[in-house]
Amino acid sequence: MTDEQEERAVEIEIGGARRRFDIDDPILPDWVKTLQEQSAVGQPDKLGRSDYDRDLELLQVELVKVQAWQQATGNRVVLLFEGRDAAGKGGAIAATREYMNPRSARIVALPKPTERERGQWYYQRYVEHLPSAGEFVMFDRSWYNRAGVEPVMGFCTPDEHAHFLAETPDFERMLVKSGIYLFKFWLDIGRAKQLERFHDRRHTILKAWKLSPMDIASIQRWDDYTAMRDQMFASTHTDLAPWIVVRADDKRRARLNLIRRVLLGLPYEGKNINAIGHEEPAIIGGPELAV
Ligand code: ADP
Ligand code: AMP
Ligand code: MLT
Repeated sequence: MTDEQEERAVEIEIGGARRRFDIDDPILPDWVKTLQEQSAVGQPDKLGRSDYDRDLELLQVELVKVQAWQQATGNRVVLLFEGRDAAGKGGAIAATREYMNPRSARIVALPKPTERERGQWYYQRYVEHLPSAGEFVMFDRSWYNRAGVEPVMGFCTPDEHAHFLAETPDFERMLVKSGIYLFKFWLDIGRAKQLERFHDRRHTILKAWKLSPMDIASIQRWDDYTAMRDQMFASTHTDLAPWIVVRADDKRRARLNLIRRVLLGLPYEGKNINAIGHEEPAIIGGPELAV
């Protein structure tokens, strides 16, 4: 390492021990794998690719029917994806969107707010992207930045955070009462899995763009993020807009189950219940599933 390169190795408390984690070391430490195997005990086996591909295609056919139903009726749908860094939000969105018409199935992934946006009503820049008649909009992160990254990293004040938690149920009630079908997904991953994915991003050329300074910072903020997540659930898990928690260490099972939830929740024309299959209660549920 040269003097110009910043030392990014950190000491963290994980699995009851103090460990050194160096994102720049190409070799992933053994303890990461060991901790991951421990957290997978009692969980369904990792889903194989061929089972995944088969089930996903059946679900994607149903999603196409959803769009046809939306075109015919004008119904509006919002899927919002939250979760820690590297939880798999982007991949879940891509799998859902793959065979949908990109004109009406839109992805919204907003950058950090501009100076002008900072002067607006907090929800304003998100409201602009809400669906019009017939649109299916997926938010890759959302207004919930103010319940996670903003308070943890100090991008908002404690007051702004508290207001957000108090006001968001009202905001979402308006959306739902206006007729929007709203699905709020929290993709939940374990700490060892997050480290493994960060490491993979750092050392795989095609994934390197995904590794951000926020990711690096979050390695040492695990407990802060946990506390913020639990406050968020306590304040914003409402009857009209409940959180759907998806255990996402196995990204294939996570994707299939969250798409199933959407399909089961929409009254679209020609629904094939057999094609949708069953949700796995070990993978998808409410805030009690979060680890
Ligand atoms: P992602 O994980 O979505 O690829 P990052 O990890 O870089 O992106 O950032 C996480 C979130 O933090 C993003 O939604 C980004 O807009 C937000 N963020 C980053 N910097 C700021 C900032 N200064 N103020 C408010 N939000 C920010
Ligand atoms: P406190 O100062 O402990 O009373 O925290 C009040 C509020 O500070 C919390 O509810 C958060 O909104 C906010 N906050 C800002 N930064 C952090 C952080 N790193 N961890 C936890 N809470 C934070
Ligand atoms: C994810 O993988 O969850 C996001 O798309 C990227 C990130 O948060 O680092």
